[in-house]
Amino acid sequence: MPNEQPIGIFDSGFGGLTVARAVIDLLPSEDVVYFGDTARYPYGPRPLDEVRDFAIQITNYLVDEHNVKLLIVGCNTAAAAALEDLEKMVDVPIIGVIAPGAQSAIDVSETKSIGVIGTVGTINSGAYVRAFNELSPQEIELQPLACPGFVEFVEKGESSGEQLLVLAERLLAPIVSAKVDTLLLGCTHYPYLARAIAQVVGNDVVLVSSADETAFAAAACLKDMDLLATKEKTGKRLFISSGDVSWFAEVGQRLFGPELASAQPHEWNPSP
Ligand code: DGL
Repeated sequence: MPNEQPIGIFDSGFGGLTVARAVIDLLPSEDVVYFGDTARYPYGPRPLDEVRDFAIQITNYLVDEHNVKLLIVGCNTAAAAALEDLEKMVDVPIIGVIAPGAQSAIDVSETKSIGVIGTVGTINSGAYVRAFNELSPQEIELQPLACPGFVEFVEKGESSGEQLLVLAERLLAPIVSAKVDTLLLGCTHYPYLARAIAQVVGNDVVLVSSADETAFAAAACLKDMDLLATKEKTGKRLFISSGDVSWFAEVGQRLFGPELASAQPHEWNPSP
């Protein structure tokens, strides 16, 4: 029964949980398998080729071992590195976070002066510049900015505090000067830092996360393909981590909720 197969979502760590939250809230009857590649986070500073290899390995794992019917790349860096390769590689539909996020920002912005922040890998790949150009050529004044160091705070379980604020003030200065009216959080970890980011850029800048729009895209895709779960039930959720699973469960419960208590380990073979 393909309709009852799970949706797969992956990220380098906790970030994709922001997408998983939106998917579960929108599609409560769906089973979801979430994979956090915490053994190899952060992806942001790594060469894109290496991130692409990781994304291919995780996609094969979720398709072959968990039989997912739809795969959501809940990581901007992995989507920037590999989305097109993954689409060619497997038969299941694949959704990334970049185009849905860009579309949300365009919808929300009044002045069309938009900032996008992400990892070094995502921003340097030019994936957001391409996505905005495809969706709305000419109209947008885009300020892309890499924010190295933000992801590490989330993975340490810290989403507030003086050190984070000092880093945010230093990194986000170009966004403040650019006077954007909308700031797209182009890394799925960043919604966990939204309070600190808002404190620096000011409350009149609208922060946009790609999570909701990605969930809507997933729902539309399943509907179009006639793959929505048919049984009225609360879906089963499985959370898997390739790193220290007790840490994943502890921080994950704080960020996401009690379901993370039963997170499962996965160990990669020494040479992928
Ligand atoms: N959450 C990820 C992203 O959206 C990955 C961050 C990282 O591992 O550096 O880019």
